[in-house]
Amino acid sequence: MTINVGDKIPSVGLATMGAEGPEGISTDDIFSGKKVVIFGLPGAFTPTCSAKHLPGFVEHADAINAKGVDTIACISVNDAFVMGAWGKDQNVGDNVMMLADGSADFAEATDLVLDLTARGMGIRSQRFSMLVDDGVVKSVNVDEGTFEKTSAEQMLSDL
Ligand code: BEZ
Repeated sequence: MTINVGDKIPSVGLATMGAEGPEGISTDDIFSGKKVVIFGLPGAFTPTCSAKHLPGFVEHADAINAKGVDTIACISVNDAFVMGAWGKDQNVGDNVMMLADGSADFAEATDLVLDLTARGMGIRSQRFSMLVDDGVVKSVNVDEGTFEKTSAEQMLSDL
């Protein structure tokens, strides 16, 4: 079952890119006691994700935080090296936490897998956005063909 409003975020291990290399981080570390906007996408450096999805959250980060959000996180089935490089390329700074779901554990546990094997991209994440308060899902939007539903602008107007 796809993760839904009222569900608890599953406990899985993820990674971020630190100064010395990849660093492990758990979903418990990220979500406990915090209001978090998390958005997922099929891949770093892919056209829609690079041109629209991630830049929207960077642009609107201050406005989203001003609504009481502690953390904005971007998650993708890529390794921490790629997510770190993409974050630098997109000048995310401290505005967006770049999370590597390298083995698709989060995508699998939330039933948000996107199978792009036929396109040579393997198992990825669907495009989605969620508002999570202290580990409990308050809203979830999954892309059904239009990127806008999961955009920063939509999240901002829903907050
Ligand atoms: C994108 O543009 O975001 C995209 C392109 C190909 C596969 C997945 C995502």
